[in-house]
Amino acid sequence: LEDADIVADWAARFVLQRVTQFAPGPDKRFVLGLPTGGTPLGMYRKLIQFYKEGKISFKYVTTFNMDEYVGLPRDHPESYHYYMWNEFFKHVDIDPAQAHVLDGNAPDLVAECARFERLIQEAGGVHLFIGGIGPDGHIAFNEPGSSLVSRTRVKTLAYDTLEANKRFFGNDISKVPRQALTVGVGTVMDAKEVMILITGVHKALALAKAVEEGVNHMWTVSAFQQHPQTLFVCDEAATLEL
Ligand code: F6R
Repeated sequence: LEDADIVADWAARFVLQRVTQFAPGPDKRFVLGLPTGGTPLGMYRKLIQFYKEGKISFKYVTTFNMDEYVGLPRDHPESYHYYMWNEFFKHVDIDPAQAHVLDGNAPDLVAECARFERLIQEAGGVHLFIGGIGPDGHIAFNEPGSSLVSRTRVKTLAYDTLEANKRFFGNDISKVPRQALTVGVGTVMDAKEVMILITGVHKALALAKAVEEGVNHMWTVSAFQQHPQTLFVCDEAATLEL
């Protein structure tokens, strides 16, 4: 697609179509996997608009977010809880008990990851997992070298990730959480359908590695070549290396 705005619009219409076609109800919930980051912001804004226009309801939608930092208070502006509530959940009619974000402050982080996987299973699996990728091809916090069959787990973040994220923490690397909880590549691969949003020239190499080279754990998004129903929604700039 032409640019990031059109990608956002297209992605939101895709979610609208999937959710309304499924016609969720009290005994039949639509299960959606969600990312944070800059890329999906436009899609969330469009979905809020569709909700306000009465085109979509999230009352019977269950969501699972991809990841969360360890040790950041929920109300810290960089926590993914804060992001999701402010950018999306508080503007729509989702049941807060059905909007799942990993708890990076759980007393037992390993148990929290197992609980998240169990909840996804109990929900019947994810119908549509939406994701974004980093310039190094990471999906969620599955940095280069992550296992392609990984499940939800605690990850100690690579130095490059801390460097890349310090801009959100007053440019002070010591303030960036060292660990995160993240769904695994295998967790996302289990979704019936996956939609990955990729915009900007800084993602062009990652997109080329994702679709034009072999499946490789150094570019974890390349795993989705082996998924039966994955869609990469890209703007022109992201396709420059193809
Ligand atoms: C988001 C996530 C990441 C981001 C990726 C791109 O929950 O886990 O994979 O999607 O880092 O981030 P942006 O969209 O900010 O470029």
